[in-house]
Amino acid sequence: MDIATLSATARALVAPGKGILAADESSGTIKKRFDSIGAESTETSRRDYREMLFTTKGAADFISGVILFDETIRQHAADGTSLVKLLTDQGIIPGIKVDLGAKPLAGADGETVTEGLDGLRERLAEYHALGARFAKWRATYSITTGPSSAALPSAYCIDVNAHALARYAALCQEAGIVPIVEPEVLMDGEHTIERSFDVTSAVLDALYEALFVQRVRLDGTLLKPNMVLSGYGCAQQASVQEVAEASVRCFRATVPAAVPGIVFLSGGQSDEVATAHLNAMNELGGLPWELSFSYGRALQAPALKAWKGEAANVDAGRAAFFHRAKLNSAARSGSYTPEMEKAAG
Ligand code: 13P
Repeated sequence: MDIATLSATARALVAPGKGILAADESSGTIKKRFDSIGAESTETSRRDYREMLFTTKGAADFISGVILFDETIRQHAADGTSLVKLLTDQGIIPGIKVDLGAKPLAGADGETVTEGLDGLRERLAEYHALGARFAKWRATYSITTGPSSAALPSAYCIDVNAHALARYAALCQEAGIVPIVEPEVLMDGEHTIERSFDVTSAVLDALYEALFVQRVRLDGTLLKPNMVLSGYGCAQQASVQEVAEASVRCFRATVPAAVPGIVFLSGGQSDEVATAHLNAMNELGGLPWELSFSYGRALQAPALKAWKGEAANVDAGRAAFFHRAKLNSAARSGSYTPEMEKAAG
């Protein structure tokens, strides 16, 4: 294992002022996004949309890497240049989603385990040859309330997903690819922020134990977690400051300092709220790891709305993406203010 290269890549992905664009929506998910703007999802329209994002002038100042889907890493821009080359020419590191999705977990109603380990060594070798230098694997955990013996997630679900995340991470490092480990505790439900804190802590404890046992070098990894939030249906919504404090307290207790960076998913938060939360965490300062973003929806939502699937709107889509990337870049150093939302890109 070439840990020096892995560690340099991981650190480049969380370079000051920069974060990751998650553009790895599966065909089903991107269709849902396109449905929301009345656009048809075809191989060409998906290419056009992603080409628009990847050719946004100046975005490379704020975007260190892009996570691609299997289809996208093989696609070419309208002028024949591969999308991977479009990114690397700007100094943006290509990444790849390698999990095959969260599937029902046997014997555990309402819970999932993420699949995709079979054949992963060979797939990683191919992705490396196609230019990928980092990867992602997402596990999901639902929170339910009720008697403690029945409340989700179960220890069973936490354990099998930690094991799979570590298997994936070890294979990535062997292939010269930085693994982003993504345990996403879902924030749907009426649970309190305290419950989010407890569940996220248990998930991260199990994950770091599995990574240790499976000999993963933490300095060549990144963590992509949920923020510690009130459940979206909870009557008592924590403030931005409370979210920042609870999240940092949780990660300080569970994430080793050897991890170069924590790159958050947005998980259904609005774009502005996701930026405000990241900013508030970075304002706290004195942290052992970089705190950055690896947003999908929170980086893309305004660009998608401006684009509407029409070639005539490509410049508007790019402007919206540039603006969001710039504000999240500011949030990396705690220098974002809500007033910046109004300024033009
Ligand atoms: P969201 O930021 O939309 O949650 O997407 C991030 C991601 O990559 C989910 O796996």
